[in-house]
Amino acid sequence: MSDKRYMASENRYNETMSYRHCGKSGLKLPLLSLGLWHNFGDVDSREEAIRMLHHAFDHGITHFDLANNYGTPFGSAERNFGNIMKSDFAPYRDELIISTKAGHEMWPGPYGDGGSRKYLMASIDQSLKRMQLDYVDIFYSHRYDPNTPLEETMGALSDIVKQGKALYVGISKYPEDKAREAYRLLKENGTPCLIYQGKYNMLAREVEYTAFPLAQKNGVGFIGFSPLAQGMLSDKYLHGIPENSRAALSHGFLQKNQITPEIIGKINRLNEIAAKRGQTLAQMALAWCFHQPAVNSVIVGASSVKQLQDNIDALKNTTFTSEELWIIGEIAG
Ligand SMILES: NC(=O)c1ccc[n+]([C@@H]2O[C@H](COP(=O)([O-])OP(=O)(O)OC[C@H]3O[C@@H](n4cnc5c(N)ncnc54)[C@H](OP(=O)(O)O)[C@@H]3O)[C@@H](O)[C@H]2O)c1
Repeated sequence: MSDKRYMASENRYNETMSYRHCGKSGLKLPLLSLGLWHNFGDVDSREEAIRMLHHAFDHGITHFDLANNYGTPFGSAERNFGNIMKSDFAPYRDELIISTKAGHEMWPGPYGDGGSRKYLMASIDQSLKRMQLDYVDIFYSHRYDPNTPLEETMGALSDIVKQGKALYVGISKYPEDKAREAYRLLKENGTPCLIYQGKYNMLAREVEYTAFPLAQKNGVGFIGFSPLAQGMLSDKYLHGIPENSRAALSHGFLQKNQITPEIIGKINRLNEIAAKRGQTLAQMALAWCFHQPAVNSVIVGASSVKQLQDNIDALKNTTFTSEELWIIGEIAG
């Protein structure tokens, strides 16, 4: 896929990245993981996607997060990643944690959405084929499906592990009571839940009161998604909506009407605090996620190597005074 054969940097584990155990498990995740929801589909630059994956791994980012429906069109992020995986990362498979998910709408008809055994079993096979992998490291139920018994969804996840198609299982965005039940069922099935994936950033803190304590009590890890609130917690939208931003793109998930005057006011004030800390707002937003010990990793997205490097540099300062934490809480509300 790339012109020259990729050789990973020999310094990849000697830089700023550190690794935390995922819950009570033996698996360590990098503080920063890279998500392929946007920017890795067929509508995106293939060259930049390759450069970002190389850059990430060269800087110790050993975890790439995908889902069956990532990319435009659905499935294209997995397929593109699979091609790069095969051509560039095959020698490094044992140094990588690759996750995928099923749970949102993926294909037409009654079997391509939700939490049924039928959907999950078919989807993992499709994902493995698109990514040209024998197994994924983590397979998630992408969301709770109220129309499928939890026993069925968790049974399918457990069987996927027992069939060797995934090493671990996780759940994403489950309500607290359903997550509790899921942890119990997975434990009973002999495949304890590795990880809970939930939205976490300075503007979205609900998980602090719901997912964090429950995961900790059950020895389950926590990984946060959208730590930059899809880019809102950066200097990108300080003065409106620039071209080429996620909010401006027709295939982006962030809608223009989410960039309200209230949000712009908040991010301007947060940007001032970041400047006083000698960080960009994106760096402060990422570093802030780690003030909670429950957070094992955050999955950041990026549309360029420049952004990715900016984000990696966040790890140079993850310490906050209690006054800074208090002011950030006041501003972000
Ligand atoms: N489980 C779930 O349901 C779920 C849901 C959502 C996401 N996720 C996972 O979490 C990952 C990350 O989500 P996300 O993409 O929303 O994360 P995010 O990190 O909050 O937002 C990423 C976007 O922020 C902008 N950005 C990144 N670094 C920047 C920087 N240094 N300066 C300025 N702007 C910067 C870029 O936007 P532009 O494109 O505008 O440049 C980038 O695409 C996904 O890829 C996926 O793996 C999971």
